[in-house]
Amino acid sequence: MSTQAPAVEHAIPSDALVFFGATGDLAYKKIFPSLQAMIKRGHLNVPVIGVAKAGWNLDQLKARAKDSLEQHGGLDADAFQKLCSLLRYVDGDYSDAATFTEVRKQLGDAKHPAHYLAIPPSLFETVVEQLVKSGSAQGARMIVEKPFGHDLASAQELNRVLLSAFPESSIFRIDHYLAKGPVHNIVSFRFSNSFLEPLWNRDYIESIQITMAEDFGVQGRGSFYDQTGAIRDVIQNHIFQVMSNLAMECPARRDTESIRDEKAKVLKAIPPIEPSNLLRGQFVGYKDEKGVAPNSTVETFAALQLEIKNWRWDGVPFYIRAGKNLPTTCTEVIARLRRPPATNMTDPAPQNHMRFRISPEMTIALCVSVSAVDESAPRQVVELEACRYPRPEEMEAYERVITDAMAGDATLFARQDYVEEAWRIVDPVLKAGTPVYPYEPHTWGPTGEPEQILNNVTPPGGWQAPVNDTADDLHLVPQPA
Ligand code: BG6
Repeated sequence: MSTQAPAVEHAIPSDALVFFGATGDLAYKKIFPSLQAMIKRGHLNVPVIGVAKAGWNLDQLKARAKDSLEQHGGLDADAFQKLCSLLRYVDGDYSDAATFTEVRKQLGDAKHPAHYLAIPPSLFETVVEQLVKSGSAQGARMIVEKPFGHDLASAQELNRVLLSAFPESSIFRIDHYLAKGPVHNIVSFRFSNSFLEPLWNRDYIESIQITMAEDFGVQGRGSFYDQTGAIRDVIQNHIFQVMSNLAMECPARRDTESIRDEKAKVLKAIPPIEPSNLLRGQFVGYKDEKGVAPNSTVETFAALQLEIKNWRWDGVPFYIRAGKNLPTTCTEVIARLRRPPATNMTDPAPQNHMRFRISPEMTIALCVSVSAVDESAPRQVVELEACRYPRPEEMEAYERVITDAMAGDATLFARQDYVEEAWRIVDPVLKAGTPVYPYEPHTWGPTGEPEQILNNVTPPGGWQAPVNDTADDLHLVPQPA
């Protein structure tokens, strides 16, 4: 018989938050700052129960929270005081039933807690079983952190574990990229401008390139990263979410499942990546990082090509590159339009593009070719910016996901079928053991390695290097070599 708890009515907000891994890195860097931000907005007024096995007491957890806030965004005295009044702490082993008896006790009258597993996936099953046995799964929501599995089989197994205790509508798989304003703004921009939709297909778009570059290394996360690599860490999840937003059809309705259906359909149309369409790189010095195996073959850079076999996108290659220790930190999409025919008027015909910058700031820009002020000079390629902003009042991604999960809104979370489709696309190539080539820190990945592979993972016309945005409304675009 299924032990699955009944689904929580969407309108019912969670009446407690339990976060496992309370003394860990994620809680320190993201969860405490998000909780403080939620309090400041008036979005959090329920018990918050931290659970960990650290031999700590509540005062130590409060001290940790204070330190976290001071290091990450700043401490707000009033909000911190409120957080302390909501905070509880349970110290204990996740395999010990007594830990969960205490969690249940701390939950008091709460009937719809949200349980947030900010812990390694290897502990999920134990915690889920204990929550069920202690009666804390009933009526509850489950929030889980990425990485959601290591490959297709482990993701399916994790789903089996979670679905044995919670219905899909009560499971919230976090991909914080989804909660970034510029990522979901891709969808609203696409479907609220009639000029774009007629062009947004294989008739007009030659290729799409997505870059997620970081100019720093693994930042002390060597042991995590060495089990993960760039494909599992950011491509299979963050970049695929960006790609789905770029490629999806307009949902028939605005509800969560209609939107998630369209995103899953994009992934279903993507064949597994071919080993010949993947270039893996590792920055020189990576093997000296703490926690990294001396003979590690994990990639800190990957560039790949994939295709979406549907009516809109067939024949349009999607190029993706992501990595650590690259020349800059920036996530950006370039959709290159087909070259206009060469005529006496425009020869040589420049190419147009649409650019969506996701970070560090948001930009949406259309690149066009115009006459120079001096008409005898060559034509200029410039960008018309539709918008560019960081919005200080916007919720930070983690604040958004915790807020939404506690409110029961699953729109910005990955659904089971989507996650498994994403693994299906990368699973074979992850297991293919393709070579990993070295690259110098602060360069754009390996060069001069197998020419065929380099060609396969390089967009026609080359990668467009992210440029710093200027304050001008029009700015010149460096032309690809
Ligand atoms: C995380 C990855 O999920 O996303 C990190 O594990 C990466 O390696 C990070 O640096 C990037 O997210 P953001 O929001 O900091 O750009």
